[in-house]
Amino acid sequence: MLDMPARRDELRATYDLAPNPGLAARMQDAYARMKRVVSPADWAMHAPYVAAINALKRERGAAILAHNYMTPEIFHGVADVVGDSLQLAVEATRTQSDVIVQCGVHFMAETSKILNPAKIVLMPDMAAGCSLADSITAEGVARMRARYPGAPVVSYVNTTAEVKAASDICCTSSNAVQIIRALEAETIIMTPDKYLAQNVAALVPEKRIVWWDGSCIVHEQYTARDIREFREWNPGTRIIAHPECPPDVVAEADFSGSTKGILDYVSLERPERAMLVTECSMASNISDAHPDVEFIGPCNMCPYMKKITLEKVLWSLHSMTTQIEVDADIANRARLAVQRMIDLSAAKG
Ligand code: 13P
Ligand code: SF4
Repeated sequence: MLDMPARRDELRATYDLAPNPGLAARMQDAYARMKRVVSPADWAMHAPYVAAINALKRERGAAILAHNYMTPEIFHGVADVVGDSLQLAVEATRTQSDVIVQCGVHFMAETSKILNPAKIVLMPDMAAGCSLADSITAEGVARMRARYPGAPVVSYVNTTAEVKAASDICCTSSNAVQIIRALEAETIIMTPDKYLAQNVAALVPEKRIVWWDGSCIVHEQYTARDIREFREWNPGTRIIAHPECPPDVVAEADFSGSTKGILDYVSLERPERAMLVTECSMASNISDAHPDVEFIGPCNMCPYMKKITLEKVLWSLHSMTTQIEVDADIANRARLAVQRMIDLSAAKG
């Protein structure tokens, strides 16, 4: 919902946004990608927004980069590029569009701006934050450096530009192991996700990994006991956990990977039944492409990701707000850390 009713009135006065079953029927191609998870009545409400956004996107020369946790109507209806955090960062370096609309959370938009200082990067809701990004500042990074002199700092992309600028290199959940293995140092500082760090440490025992005490409010809610009980009650279900989950949860799972890793695993393995131990939209977004897989089990909603709605995306393109700005010096230093990660990931394949 838009915070200001006046904005909603302006949108309704400018675009035909009333529920429209006729238009929804003509947009069956888009609907086919989400019909298992979006009802026909909901699609009739979404279709006018999807049509208006796609038309405005062409007019503005904009590209929409959407994270895998976006709702299906954004993910399948308006996104030009979808993916995990690494894919979105890489695509941000490739896009030819002058305007990027970031459908995800604030740190993702900042990363796109850092990689594209000359482009306009729009954030549909500036309140779409992240508990991990909120957990550490550059001063926290400095404290870790003082505690472990000489140890390089690997910061998760789920951090502010200021924290990236204070780090040696970034990582995402899909390349963290690769990045840690590639560093020569014996002791490595990982910020800010303690669970990602602990999960990486289990896979790279030859390194001493020390971590910041941050966590994701979505993934920290799962417990190993929940997973064990779920498996007991639902035998044969493939359990797939994101590495932001606590290590004992990951240990109970059949597979752990980034959101792209989860998608690749499901596509390759085609399990009969799967429980995705991650944000709710992940299963929704891949459901129609995998009609033979039954997605079951509890999921947790990210309140930040869910701040991004079709209405806010339309407002963002209509008003060309809110434009992300990053201080030039911070952006230059942060770019080094992000680009090092991208280059290293590409080199290692
Ligand atoms: P990935 O898509 O990189 O796995 O990240 C998940 C996440 O929580 C992003 O905020
Ligand atoms: Fe941050 Fe977790 Fe939400 Fe991702 S799912 S944006 S890590 S709070």
